[in-house]
Amino acid sequence: MAQDPKYDLPTYTPTARGLHWLIALLIFIQLPLGFYMSYRGNEMPSVDEKGAPVKGVWDALTGFLYSSHKLVGLTVLALVVLRLLYRLTRGAPRSDPTVPPALTGISHLVHWGLYALLIAVPVIGYTAISYGDYLDVFGFHLPAITEKNEDLSKQVFEWHAIGAFLIIAFVTLHIAAAIYHRVVRKDRVVERMIPKRVA
Ligand code: HEM
Ligand code: HEM
Repeated sequence: MAQDPKYDLPTYTPTARGLHWLIALLIFIQLPLGFYMSYRGNEMPSVDEKGAPVKGVWDALTGFLYSSHKLVGLTVLALVVLRLLYRLTRGAPRSDPTVPPALTGISHLVHWGLYALLIAVPVIGYTAISYGDYLDVFGFHLPAITEKNEDLSKQVFEWHAIGAFLIIAFVTLHIAAAIYHRVVRKDRVVERMIPKRVA
């Protein structure tokens, strides 16, 4: 990526930055949405028609949250595929030479791990809803990619949850690293993603 004359250091292009922050925003919405809707659908105390206590509430709000989660998840998948194609063809600004090579190596591992998770988790989510035949999104029926199998659906949903926890772990590391660069090392790595104009 060429250096932009508006900044006195190599930065990510506006397209790369736009996609980075849009995907980050959607992930910050998607994670709590996933936990809350799953609590509502599977755990929230309720009563059935006969007044007996049951777990899980399937009302219009729960349905709306599930449809929103599927829609946001598929949007993340599309944006990450775009971002990855752009990243593989256009590259990234060269690494900050003041950062020790071991740290740069770890940051690259976290970045590529994030890309892998941001593709794997929605694909696994789609596979789980396909096995369970829960393919409705706001009244639109998504195409099935597997035969119906409730047991496999449950199993694949567990992988989906494990993947979501891995995203939380990687994003936590990633944000801790950003704070470390800004507050402890006081270098300019964060400016690569949030550039400051010169003059
Ligand atoms: C990056 C994208 C995604 C993230 C971060 C994510 C995250 C999550 C989280 C945190 C949960 C709650 C897990 C639990 O409490 O056990 C969840 C559940 C769920 N996800 Fe996703 N998800 C993503 C994409 C998708 C996609 C694309 C679909 C389907 C098209 C999907 C379908 C579901 C469903 C149906 C559940 C509920 C499972 C249940 O009720 O037991 N997710 N997701
Ligand atoms: C869900 C949230 C986030 C995800 C999934 C995410 C993902 C990523 C990925 C994959 C990269 C690598 C870019 C590339 O070279 O292709 C990256 C870079 C970067 N991210 Fe994030 N990010 C998130 C949130 C944040 C936040 C909250 C901050 C700031 C506090 C941040 C700051 C940065 C910076 C400064 C870089 C550039 C690092 C460098 O040049 O070495 N990110 N992010």
